[in-house]
Amino acid sequence: MLIDTPSSNCLAAVSHFWVFDQSTRPGQVRLKQKGRGLTERQTSASMPEVWRVLFKIKCFYYSRFSPSPLSIKQFLDFGKDNACEKTSYVFLRKELPVRLANTMREVNLLPDKLLSQPSVRLVQKWYMQSFVELLDYENRKPEDPHALNDFLELLIEIRNRHNDVVPTMAQGVIEYKERFGFDPFISSNIQYFLDRFYTNRISFRMLINQHTLLFGNDTNPAHPKHIGSIDPNCSVAEVVSDAYDTAKMLCEKYYLAAPELKIEEFNMKAPKRPIQVVYVPSHLFHMLFELFKNSMRATVELHEHSDKGLPPVKAKVTLGKEDLSIKISDRGGGVPLRKIDRLFNYMYSTAPTPSLEPGAVPLAGFGYGLPISRLYARYFQGDLKLYSMEGVGTDAVIYLKALSSESFERLPVFNKSAWRHYKTSPEADDWSNPSKEPRDASKSKYKANR
Ligand SMILES: Nc1ncnc2c1ncn2[C@@H]1O[C@H](COP(=O)(O)OP(=O)(O)O)[C@@H](O)[C@H]1O
Ligand SMILES: [Mg+2]
Repeated sequence: MLIDTPSSNCLAAVSHFWVFDQSTRPGQVRLKQKGRGLTERQTSASMPEVWRVLFKIKCFYYSRFSPSPLSIKQFLDFGKDNACEKTSYVFLRKELPVRLANTMREVNLLPDKLLSQPSVRLVQKWYMQSFVELLDYENRKPEDPHALNDFLELLIEIRNRHNDVVPTMAQGVIEYKERFGFDPFISSNIQYFLDRFYTNRISFRMLINQHTLLFGNDTNPAHPKHIGSIDPNCSVAEVVSDAYDTAKMLCEKYYLAAPELKIEEFNMKAPKRPIQVVYVPSHLFHMLFELFKNSMRATVELHEHSDKGLPPVKAKVTLGKEDLSIKISDRGGGVPLRKIDRLFNYMYSTAPTPSLEPGAVPLAGFGYGLPISRLYARYFQGDLKLYSMEGVGTDAVIYLKALSSESFERLPVFNKSAWRHYKTSPEADDWSNPSKEPRDASKSKYKANR
């Protein structure tokens, strides 16, 4: 379904006569004609069209709000003492549709050939369904005896529905690439879109997790001090070790060997004290796990048959005034400079495409390890960079904000400049290109016109 701007006449007409029916069961949305019920004929004849228009109106309405970014400190302060479920409910019932609508408007700017892939359609359907289900709470007061509980259950349902968004979307991109090949303009649009789309998804899950962990029954007894998904005293070296151990198990399963780990810390703020940060440990784990998998694969593939054994992978954790940096260094032979940017491209991976079998964890796959890890780092104003020396090895550095008051969510906003990205075709390159047919300059001689 295309969500373009409905004409104002149409908007006025539809919203004058139709409302979302709040009396239905949670999770269901029905339309009701204002003032009277629907006759049988009206239901079958006019519902789909009206429904489509109303969906457009709502999506258009919510997409005009910009998402409200929160800092880790705000998440923490809100969740610390006597977190108020009603406040969270009132915030989320608007903020979640706003974030969904912003991203859905952008999905519709993708090239038609990509939008028509079955996997992309499926993802679109999930988004529309979740959006519509959230609208059910637009006018339900927090005092309604069932509203809070129903809302919490809905959030869990939505989270589960969106579990497979990344591999399903990846599948859509692969289907597209196989059918239509590689076009640099479309590829750069897909890159721009997916970075924003996946960031939106990370943020959406962050909001849902905070609410369900704080107010639901799924609190993790292993981490009673966590505030939702945030650890106020996250020991970075511990997460580094956990991620290394998990990657090591996978690596040994595939190659029957794995490099050792050496960790070093440098705490500029409080020398000799272990480095801690207020952060979401699952995000940090995700990034480090991906970096370790890559380093291990490169190391083993280069040194598998060497009699000197495998060179270790090194991790260095440093804390300054502004940045907390984690460097993972390997001696896996590195990557040439020309290829570094490509490693963050969703349409590129050197490993064979893994199967989508449930439960199977591949060591490398869609080529999404680096780009998604960089999104996690950037989500709270950090970054992930790769410095490589071909022939030797690679340093991957994760930068995080040292202060939780500076770690604000970095969120995509659907506006004119985003729109322009999809619609403007590339201009001519303003730097010279190496000639396709290199001439041998020594043989090129001036010939006079005869
Ligand atoms: N530390 C590294 N050393 C050498 N090559 C690397 C390293 N990290 C990443 N790469 C290259 O970058 C590619 C993309 O990595 P990634 O995004 O994790 O996707 P995947 O591992 O699924 O291919 C890898 O396939 C590999 O060729
Ligand atoms: Mg990888």
